[in-house]
Amino acid sequence: MARILTGIQSTGRPHLGNILGAIKPAVALANEANNDSFLFIADLHSLTQIKDKVTLKNNTFQVAATWLACGLDPKKTTFYRQSDVTECTELAWYLNCFFPYQRLKLAHSFKDKSDRLEDVNSGLFAYPMLMASDILLYDADFVPVGKDQLQHLEMTRDVASRINHKHGEIFVLPEPILQQDAQFILGTDGGKMSKSRNNTIDVFDDENAIKKLINKNIVTDNTPLEDPKNPDRATVFQLYKLIASNEESKTMAEKLKAGGYGWGHAKKELVEKIISSFSEERAKFEHYQNNPKEVEEVLMEGAQKAKKVAKATLDRVRNSLGYN
Ligand code: TRP
Repeated sequence: MARILTGIQSTGRPHLGNILGAIKPAVALANEANNDSFLFIADLHSLTQIKDKVTLKNNTFQVAATWLACGLDPKKTTFYRQSDVTECTELAWYLNCFFPYQRLKLAHSFKDKSDRLEDVNSGLFAYPMLMASDILLYDADFVPVGKDQLQHLEMTRDVASRINHKHGEIFVLPEPILQQDAQFILGTDGGKMSKSRNNTIDVFDDENAIKKLINKNIVTDNTPLEDPKNPDRATVFQLYKLIASNEESKTMAEKLKAGGYGWGHAKKELVEKIISSFSEERAKFEHYQNNPKEVEEVLMEGAQKAKKVAKATLDRVRNSLGYN
């Protein structure tokens, strides 16, 4: 059985774009596939940017609760927090010592981030080796990643080959599975939905807050109420179409085209659709907010399973390097 492993960034509570574009498809795949799948929250990577204890903890919780609320089955997937398996940081050190500085310097991600971010620390530079450790520690066969992570996968294979070459077959060489760019989901301003653009919709917020946000932030033109409107150019309709059925979308498009149906009406229907189509996820998320211990238990169980595999790999590595 092939082992598939992937890491999730923990940059805060996922929004509608993350849920529709990435989380739901990944959950469907993880639940249906006959694979041995490992999924973890990359909270050690987060430390390169987040230094506040409460934020760090909370971000991890929000991400874990979202994945569980969106249907991830922790019986089928080993779901854990990277920082709970301390073997990961130990292996990362060994990998760092086998990977040429000159090659690590070629990482695009470091270049991008160091141009953009204020806190350019050594952890940010060593990021690809921590990621390689995440993968090699668990003998992953396949790693689904976006285009921006392919170079990290190459580096993972590279460092694994270097060590295998010197010390025998210790590591499995992982293959990337290139994920299509997450489905393009419009944000409230009509651009791509992303946290940095401040145009996100939080489906777990309370109903009034969602209503307010949609009314205030979704851009519309100033076509008068009675005039016909073009649904294809309306952000509110594009968002509605993503969650409503074909039938419902057709009905709204017709109402917009006919005139006498205003943006306010469309927004109201959009809010109702968000609340009704995510009702199960919202209820589960609220349950986890009120019972954070349950999330903790799931993650600790996942960590135990992950740790078993990690320990075995690390034993192999330590033996080969001459540490015990
Ligand atoms: N670096 C990945 C990202 O930014 C997250 C990640 C960390 C990851 N470790 C991983 C992904 C291991 C796949 C495998 O999205």
